Amino acid sequence: MMPQRQAGRRVLVTGAASGIGAAISRQYLQEGAALVLIDVNAQALAAHAESLAEIGGQVVWAVANVADYRACEAALAQVRAKLDGDIDILINNAGISPKTNGKPANFWEMDPDEWQRVVGVNLHGAFNWARLLTPAMVRNRFGSIVNMSSVAGKAHLTFTAAHYGTTKAALIGLTRDLAGELGPHGITVNAIAPGRINTPLMRTASPETNLAVIQETALRRLGEPQEVAEMSCFLTSPESRFVTGQVVDVAGGWMMT
Ligand SMILES: NC(=O)c1ccc[n+]([C@@H]2O[C@H](COP(=O)([O-])OP(=O)(O)OC[C@H]3O[C@@H](n4cnc5c(N)ncnc54)[C@H](O)[C@@H]3O)[C@@H](O)[C@H]2O)c1
Repeated sequence: MMPQRQAGRRVLVTGAASGIGAAISRQYLQEGAALVLIDVNAQALAAHAESLAEIGGQVVWAVANVADYRACEAALAQVRAKLDGDIDILINNAGISPKTNGKPANFWEMDPDEWQRVVGVNLHGAFNWARLLTPAMVRNRFGSIVNMSSVAGKAHLTFTAAHYGTTKAALIGLTRDLAGELGPHGITVNAIAPGRINTPLMRTASPETNLAVIQETALRRLGEPQEVAEMSCFLTSPESRFVTGQVVDVAGGWMMT
């Protein structure tokens, strides 16, 4: 049995139905947390929640588009009624990186609706959930937030479009601002910058792109969702209680800065 570092904690994970979010939610459950899963894909979310049943522990879930504040508020009311306390850990993980035939849009051809959609999910989604959950964290003088940024938020990548890098850089700004403002209330806020992680999102890029990244990665491989999940759990565990406002690369030594 894993060490129960998250016992007694209630954790909300967005984009929980797939890839990194699915691994993060599984890890928190295995470490003893009660789990709230949020995703826009109802079918995948139900399947993931069912797959967690073998672990035991409390899992509640609600379908919501993180970009829609009112929908998130309604989802929170729905799950909150089933929990016996406030949510004290938030993992802002939901994110999208639209591509056509494995390629990102050129900026000069970008559909303005696509720009709005990416900003809505990747950035406003993080604002929405932080805005909804921080009042209780401040009241309780306890909480932790992890924002899922990306190496694309720190450097220009040729295979992601401008909206993606812009939102991932903005999440780093949000992380620092919230860390500064919420620190005096006993709340830590950090970001993870994953490199190339083996998930459905990564597979929207061409195989050649992913092979090229492996060649540029010091450890010469892709990362696994589990490796990001373990960092997320560390950043909200007692072992990291003096760590806040930081961006931690989980990237195998790719794009080291
Ligand atoms: N995979 C990588 O290589 C990589 C690298 C750097 C950063 N990231 C970031 O990690 C996070 C997770 O990525 P992943 O690779 O696991 O992707 P994924 O596509 O496998 O999973 C993303 C999940 O988010 C959900 N989602 C999408 N839009 C949503 C919305 N509007 N509301 C609620 N849920 C929504 C999807 O349904 C899906 O379940 C993203 O923020 C991504 O930008 C991934």
